[in-house]
Parts: sequence; structure tokens; C-alpha cells
Amino acid sequence: MKGIILAGGSGTRLHPITVAVSKQLLPVNDKPMIYYPLSVLMLAGIRDILIISTERDLPQFERLFGDGSGLGLNLSYAVQRQPNGLPEAFLIGADHIGTDSVALVLGDNIFHGPRFSDVLAGSIRDLDGCVLFGYPVHDPERYGVGETDATGRLVSIEEKPARPRSNRAITGLYFYDNDVVDIAKNLHPSARGELEISDVNQHYLERGKAKLVDLGRGFAWLDTGTPDSLLLAGQYVQTLEHRQGVRIACVEEVALRMGFIDPDACYALGAFQAKSGYGQYVMAIARELGAREPRTP
Ligand code: TTP
Repeated sequence: MKGIILAGGSGTRLHPITVAVSKQLLPVNDKPMIYYPLSVLMLAGIRDILIISTERDLPQFERLFGDGSGLGLNLSYAVQRQPNGLPEAFLIGADHIGTDSVALVLGDNIFHGPRFSDVLAGSIRDLDGCVLFGYPVHDPERYGVGETDATGRLVSIEEKPARPRSNRAITGLYFYDNDVVDIAKNLHPSARGELEISDVNQHYLERGKAKLVDLGRGFAWLDTGTPDSLLLAGQYVQTLEHRQGVRIACVEEVALRMGFIDPDACYALGAFQAKSGYGQYVMAIARELGAREPRTP
């Protein structure tokens, strides 16, 4: 399975913060926002990942991650000239996807919860059409909402419904089989002038090939689109990290635990940023999992 992180958009709800800086590079506590969706794809075992952003911001992502080889990844980059909608990711990324299936994650979505990598692996194993992830919210009328039958098969999708049939918001993580490229090619822009991901999902639903996996109440799916929600997301991460002494979405740790890199390589990534608590954490994890202390010359 290939991965795509969609990290463009205009971030207008965060103006003036995002007038000169990409939303997805803003800090969520101790690391840039994009680390969170990147770690989701890595936890799913995906190593071939395309990062899509605006012409203005793409060079910054390249500066941050390079070709990804340090993390045992194969990263590539592409520009989305205008925010023409989420399904444009499959047009821009058609060559990257090739004949494979694909996971799309939005660059501003934060997921955190128990046994997430098992949930992701199970969904990829069973992929037959598309898998969406639902999360219970108290204000479903603000979201795309999914209703399922007893087997988890999606039976309706409503976009920002005035009277929602379910409280399950569809989150910004989507798994699709290879048909998604052709489906995206045949979409027409909505009244808003954008390609809509709900139209893609509707295609799968009509073929009985759309599944909604419930993330459940023990899970956190956090929004970062406004100043308040950005701050709250940072505080959530800070609270857990301080309390437990672990870091959420530490991509170096995820790379090590997934077997993408070895402990010595992980240690070197930590040493490179040793003046921060984050770098110290990466070094400590690497040591715990077998890194040898580098000998001083
Ligand atoms: P949104 O939050 O809907 O849009 P935005 O980030 O531009 O913010 P605002 O509403 O404040 O103007 O987008 C969700 C995510 O998807 C976000 O990470 C940006 C990304 N995105 C793109 O990269 N390209 C697009 O065409 C769209 C619609 C969104």
C-alpha cells in the first residue's frame, strides 16, 4: 500500500498565523503537526509516501524530511497548485500509486489511541474497496457522517447533515483500492467548485464496498484547524507526554519499533537534535532498544 499526506490548503481559519507559514508545520506541543499523520502511515507499515503541499510550502517539508531514508522511508513530494479538494490527491499522486492500493491522511489530523497499529493492519488486510474511520462526536452536523449496518458496512454518508442519522464523523484517514484513481478522474466539482471526498466514498458505498471502522470512545481524534483546537491538541499531547514519559508521534521511535531502522541509526537521529528534550528522548529509546553508545574518538 502507498501513502499520501495531503498538507496543502490555505489554513484561513488560522490567519494570521498561516499567512506566511504552513499550518501543517505549526507545533503541536513538541513537534511539527505533520509528524502526527506521518506516524499514522508508518504505524500502518507504509514506507512509500508522497507529501503534497502548496508551491510555497513544499520546500519546507523537503527540508524537514529530505528523501526520508533516515527514517527508513521513501518520501516524494508534489505540488497542489490550488486547494481543489481532497480527491485531487489521487490525480496528483496517480504515478506514485501505480497499481497499488493507497492510504490518504490529511496533514492536520491527529489520531491517538490504544492498539492503533493493529486496527490499521487489520483494515489493510481486509481492504475490499474502501475503509473509512468513524469517530463519535457531539456535533455531527459539522462533519461528513457515516451510518453503518451491524457488520460495519457503510449504508449512508451525509455531508454536514442538519439531522444526522448517526454521530459518527468520518475522519481524515482513508484506505482505498486502486479503483480510486479512476473514480477521482471521473469526478465533477461540487457547487463549491471542489472535488469532494464524499463523492468518492459514495461510489464505493453504492457498490457495497465501503466499510467504516469505529475508532470508539477510548480514542482521540483531534482537530487543529482553529487557534483554540490547535492549542487544545497541543495541551492533550503535553498532558499525556508529561504524565507517561512517552512521546506521541515520535517518528524516529516509530521507525525503530516498526523495524524500518536499527537502534544505532535511531540513536544518531536523536544525537542530531540532542539539545532538545525530544532528541534526548529519541536517544534514550534507542539505547533502551539496543543502541551502542558511540565511542568518543
Ligand atoms: P481544511 O481544514 O478543510 O482546509 P484548510 O487547511 O485550507 O483550512 P481552512 O478551512 O482554515 O482554510 O483541509 C483539511 C486538510 O486537507 C488540511 O490539512 C489541508 C488539506 N487540503 C489540501 O491539502 N488540499 C485541498 O484541496 C483541501 C481542500 C485540503
